[in-house]
Amino acid sequence: MKRVPEPELMDAPAQARAYAEADFSEPNSLFVEHALSHLESADGGRLLDLGCGPGDICLRFARALPGWHITGLDAGPNMLTLADAALKGSGLENRVEFVQAHLPAHPFSHHFDAIVSNSLLHHLPDPMALWHTVAELAAPGAFVQVMDLHRPPDLETATALVEAHAGEEPEVLRQDFYNSLLAAWTVEEVEAQLAQAHLDGLTISRPTERHWLVQGQAGR
Ligand SMILES: C[S@@+](CC[C@H](N)C(=O)[O-])C[C@H]1O[C@@H](n2cnc3c(N)ncnc32)[C@H](O)[C@@H]1O
Repeated sequence: MKRVPEPELMDAPAQARAYAEADFSEPNSLFVEHALSHLESADGGRLLDLGCGPGDICLRFARALPGWHITGLDAGPNMLTLADAALKGSGLENRVEFVQAHLPAHPFSHHFDAIVSNSLLHHLPDPMALWHTVAELAAPGAFVQVMDLHRPPDLETATALVEAHAGEEPEVLRQDFYNSLLAAWTVEEVEAQLAQAHLDGLTISRPTERHWLVQGQAGR
């Protein structure tokens, strides 16, 4: 099925709020669990979450990794307002920060020991904006994990995935999910992007029927 791009930012106030209120605990905890075995052995470090949205994944990492400093980056001011609200009163304020920047632009002059990103790639007009940022900001040997949806082979499969995984969600979210499936990249397309960015230490797998997962070390 041909890819259908969707708008880059999902930052209209109602859309951002519906996204923040949706129950993403299953994919978000899956995402964090996949990374933890690679990070728990380190005493600490700096982790960057690209396209952090309302910040749930950043807070999960902060709780699981007490020695780490977590930075979430997103282009959407409304998403970041929700992320700041989730952080406030969490007790994690001294180890978590949220930064507004529109990739590939960013404000950092240092490298990160881990870079993660969930559900950002399919939003970007140029997917290389993500992979070049990863290559630029990763410290030598940094752990990298990127997960996103996998584009299904046809519209019928996309509709069935929405029913199976968002059947009870509000219509705005069901439509977002459907559009995201049509805008998603396939494993073969992501492999070509990784090769173009010379991210040779990263490999891709399919943890669920609707996701792919890229993991490995950058800059070795
Ligand atoms: C589907 S949300 C994912 C949020 C979060 N990672 C999660 O898993 O819940 C995608 C996010 O990417 C952000 N985004 C899109 N294009 C971006 C860009 N060029 N730079 C930074 N953030 C961007 C959007 O504002 C949105 O918050």
